[in-house]
Amino acid sequence: MTPAQAFPATNAQIAKMTGRARLLAAANRRPVDVTPVWFMRQAGRCLPEYRALRQTHDFMEMATTPELAVEATLMPVERLGVDGAVLFADIMLPLSGMGVPFRIQPGVGPVIDRPVRSLEAVERLRVLSVEEATPYVLDAVRLLRHELGDRAALLGFAGAPFTLACYLVEGRPTREYPLTKALMLGQPENWDRLMDVLTEVTIRYLRGQIEAGADVVQLFDSWLGLLSPSQYERCVLPYTKRIFAALGGLAPTIHFSTGTGHLLPLIASANPSMVSVDWRVPLDVAWGQIGDRGIQGNLDPTTLLAPPEVVAAETMDVLRRAGGRPGHIFNLGHGILPQTDPDQLKRIVELIHSSPN
Ligand code: CP3
Repeated sequence: MTPAQAFPATNAQIAKMTGRARLLAAANRRPVDVTPVWFMRQAGRCLPEYRALRQTHDFMEMATTPELAVEATLMPVERLGVDGAVLFADIMLPLSGMGVPFRIQPGVGPVIDRPVRSLEAVERLRVLSVEEATPYVLDAVRLLRHELGDRAALLGFAGAPFTLACYLVEGRPTREYPLTKALMLGQPENWDRLMDVLTEVTIRYLRGQIEAGADVVQLFDSWLGLLSPSQYERCVLPYTKRIFAALGGLAPTIHFSTGTGHLLPLIASANPSMVSVDWRVPLDVAWGQIGDRGIQGNLDPTTLLAPPEVVAAETMDVLRRAGGRPGHIFNLGHGILPQTDPDQLKRIVELIHSSPN
């Protein structure tokens, strides 16, 4: 028997994949030993070590100080053993470079005191280089790429133009984003100008992160579920398409949204490498709708407040629906709730990593 026959290229051998290799293989729709996993909002309030760090540093200080952002990014990698590290940052950070001051109000979210509602305000928005606008983000990415090695892939991210526009126009989180939709539907030329600027800033921001060492980038279009298919197709899709086209070939891309079961084929037509889906559509059904690309998801984050055996059953259901097909990254359908017990997350990672594909 030759050594190759004694140790065939089966699970035993492939199981040596590093977290980074595993996540990148899935993002490129190649086979993996076990399904890669990370969690949205894994670097945050559900971790006691994060809350301890927040006692002495406010959120913006943490996000704009590379050493602190690195520390917060690494916390879930060390505690949970996830295959992906999501950069500790926020979708709002590029706005300061555009000349729009904002703050993150605890328990509320992003607040902008002077919202962008007129053509004049849109025309005042600046487009700087990433080095000028958010140098601390690039420094954090560079440090992290070095610190992580092959333990985990580094995921960079940005807010998508529509979701950023929601905050810019309203000035704070709302339920329906009515002023934003009124601008979108009622003043199409001003909308196009605003979306053009946000698209350009987003392309620069994500390219900068990839050049600094991000392995994969995720575009968060959190409020997309508010739109009808025709509104999405006319007012948002062209810009999203432009972003993925501009990043094509540089790194795998993930499109994120929630409540968009009615938009999935259109979202896929924007051409991301993968589509992140929430729990409202079963994973296998969603995969059928996005066609020939990868999928991320889709456990309901509220499941994690239920007993461990419920979490295990729901996790296995997601894996069963993925069916071992190449191109699945396990994640939640939206961010972890702050009251989640991190041990629940750890058990999910262990369960997935002990379930051969
Ligand atoms: O693990 C991670 O995901 C950390 C990196 C990250 C943060 N925000 C840190 C953060 C990411 C990927 C985001 C994305 C983000 N930020 C989105 C898109 C994802 C989604 O949930 O739909 C949105 C819409 C925002 C805007 C924003 N920033 C919100 C709604 C909040 C929460 C406000 C609150 O206090 O409930 C923030 C603040 C924020 N961003 C926190 C973290 C860890 C909490 C800050 C704190 O410590 O108080």
